[in-house]
Amino acid sequence: MDYILAPSILAADFKELGREIKKTEQHGAAYLHFDVMDGMFVPSISFGMPVLASIQGLTGQVMDVHLMVQEPIRYIEDFKKAGADLVTIHLEACEDVKATIEKIHSCGLKTGLSICPETEALAVEPYLKDVDMILVMGVHPGFGGQKFIPESLDKIRSIRQMIEEQGLSVDIEVDGGIYLTNVRQVLDAGANVIVAGSAVFGGDPEKNTSDFMEILREY
Ligand code: DX5
Ligand code: ZN
Repeated sequence: MDYILAPSILAADFKELGREIKKTEQHGAAYLHFDVMDGMFVPSISFGMPVLASIQGLTGQVMDVHLMVQEPIRYIEDFKKAGADLVTIHLEACEDVKATIEKIHSCGLKTGLSICPETEALAVEPYLKDVDMILVMGVHPGFGGQKFIPESLDKIRSIRQMIEEQGLSVDIEVDGGIYLTNVRQVLDAGANVIVAGSAVFGGDPEKNTSDFMEILREY
């Protein structure tokens, strides 16, 4: 299993965006996490396709697009064109989860399925065979800088157990409230893709990325 850091640019300094992204790539972050919010599925609005398109080619990182968007099936092709490699949708946001997953596959993209803190682990079970990654939210989606909800650890454990029981190789990404101080807990619970916004871009992104990578390399 690969252990991967996915810095969330939601917490980046946007007037320095290109430079900040390069720093995370140079220090070992294999993914770049791109939080899209529509003001409907979550209260806030962030950024979308044009920002992704403008960083396309800047970095060799996997573009990890997290769609916090109602009925994301409407936008999969647009994000493919803008440079996404992996698209994660919310189970709670889709009328037809299966059709949305198929749409992502049909665009030649890797597929992630996310659940909010109030959604139980078992809800992802019917889709495990069809996805590359499950994203477990560590906070209520919508804003960076929140505190990690400790109950998410049990959810990670249950999902890792389901994946193992079925003999699958599905990644588990955890997103929200992850810092150097609690990252080992989520890794020990069974997550292998770590999203960190404030903990990477708040302060020195180069040092923060290196510090996370040092821990990930222990696994
Ligand atoms: C929350 C977003 C997260 C967020 C994480 O809705 O999905 O990716 O940027 O930010 P931190 O790491 O600051 O909690
Ligand atoms: Zn996210």
